[in-house]
Amino acid sequence: MAAPALGKDLVGLEPLSAEQIRLILDTAEPFKEVSERPIKKVPALRGKTIVNLFFEASTRTRISFEFAEKRLSADTVNVASTGSSVSKGETLVDTARNLEAMRIDMVVIRHGSSGAAQFLGHRIRSNVINAGDGKHEHPTQGLLDILTLRDRFGKIEGLKVAICGDILHSRVARSNIWGLTKLGAEVAVCGPATLLPRNVHELGVTVLPRIEDAIQWADALNVLRLQLERMHAGFLPSLREYNRVFGVTTERLAKAPKDLLILHPGPMNRGVEIDSDVADGPHSVILPQVTNGVAVRMAVLYLLAGGSPDWTQQTGGVD
Ligand code: CP
Repeated sequence: MAAPALGKDLVGLEPLSAEQIRLILDTAEPFKEVSERPIKKVPALRGKTIVNLFFEASTRTRISFEFAEKRLSADTVNVASTGSSVSKGETLVDTARNLEAMRIDMVVIRHGSSGAAQFLGHRIRSNVINAGDGKHEHPTQGLLDILTLRDRFGKIEGLKVAICGDILHSRVARSNIWGLTKLGAEVAVCGPATLLPRNVHELGVTVLPRIEDAIQWADALNVLRLQLERMHAGFLPSLREYNRVFGVTTERLAKAPKDLLILHPGPMNRGVEIDSDVADGPHSVILPQVTNGVAVRMAVLYLLAGGSPDWTQQTGGVD
């Protein structure tokens, strides 16, 4: 049977089928090995030009996209809003059209507005990959989280994953919810009522009001950062209060019926949503998530460029 194509753009996991998500995860598997080689390069995207257009701060996503592109032998250009003509008022579409006039092939975009990636994808010919848009989705983060869970548990179907913290402002939560539920996981969300979206039940998740309940129920906790930069109202009494009521601590995890896998997309607020001894502890896969991010992004770039899932036969040896 032919592999399901991904289409022109990757704007989220909501529009993807379970088969398309599995295709990306399966394509990422052999790409993991490329990053372990002394010469971390395959010629899969040789001749392709990719622009990384970041309108918001990023460490993991921006750098791992750039590594992924370089390891696939693409030519890359990084554009930030500061230092570009965006700071003079040029629009997103004008910026992208000017880049396209220089004959680029793909745009990776992070933007503060929900829907920015889709908006751009409808207006330019190049492939567009969403690297996080407002509160909407962060699909490659969702994919790398799911890949990390699959690595540890062997499967996603039937897995119980609790997403804890600031769900309201989190594009990571949305991409995890869409991806995990499509693959048959049970998903719960846990956080203060002020940080849960009003329609959260419509996303097919259970709401667990107490972190203790999430710890009793789950196989894995995906702990989210409080997005203080997106909070323009009094969502919380204080960060200390948040840690006291919702913090993921060694003491709380000691009461779990089993060892829970601990994920966090980063950046972490140590001592707020997660304590350092948990983040750095034996059940944390926070750094393996980052490692998987490169392989997942290589897979997405490769597939959108029209690559075949059996890439080792297509691209062969080391550059
Ligand atoms: N997880 C994540 O998106 O991190 P960055 O903001 O550093 O890219």
